[in-house]
Amino acid sequence: MIEKGKVSQEPFVEILKILEEAESANLVDWNAMNIASVDQKNQPSSRIVLLKKISDEGLVFYTNYNSRKGKEIELNPKVAVNFWWRELKKQVRVEGIIEKASEEDSDNYFNSRPLKSRVSAIISNQSSTISSYKDLTNQIDIYLDQNDESSIKRPDHCGLFIVIPNAVEFWQERDNRTHERLKYILEDNQKWSSHLLSP
Ligand SMILES: Cc1cc2nc3c(=O)[nH]c(=O)nc-3n(C[C@H](O)[C@H](O)[C@H](O)COP(=O)(O)O)c2cc1C
Repeated sequence: MIEKGKVSQEPFVEILKILEEAESANLVDWNAMNIASVDQKNQPSSRIVLLKKISDEGLVFYTNYNSRKGKEIELNPKVAVNFWWRELKKQVRVEGIIEKASEEDSDNYFNSRPLKSRVSAIISNQSSTISSYKDLTNQIDIYLDQNDESSIKRPDHCGLFIVIPNAVEFWQERDNRTHERLKYILEDNQKWSSHLLSP
């Protein structure tokens, strides 16, 4: 399940339609998306995250702000996102910039997570080196023993990011490599233009 906010802009409406198609087809991890960021030396890196919400504001996912992606995004907010649904023969490519969601939205999301996920997010310094996974699970167990559930609050380093698209491409596989590509670009006047691209 993902949250669906107000969606009225054409490319967002199209993304939502495909997500709903993927969800109703019960595709595994239908809301998984690859997000690429770039480090200070212009080295791109990418990883899968799960889309949590779509609205006219953008595409929302949850992560650790101190992770590799979090640090890269802090220095360079330009990102690229990619979805692919094999069964639908569809790909969606998004380019844009990223912002942190409001503290309130991040709190609400964090508080909706199961207890062990919340504690794991508090204990795990995502993307830092660790000596063993046993240590990590021990630390989680100790934290659970020593803290009452009501005292568990979202740590500052965990929260939601919003990808705010400025380009969206829809790719549909067709026979004989005549794939269809429709690209939307957000123009300077804040209106979307669209063009067909050669496959
Ligand atoms: C199916 C799948 C879903 C994932 N969902 C998330 C997610 O929503 N948020 C997240 O931070 N990491 C998620 N991960 C883990 C990331 O791919 C990645 O390992 C982690 O965020 C650290 O990335 P970084 O070191 O580049 O920051 C997911 C991985 C997979 C395979």
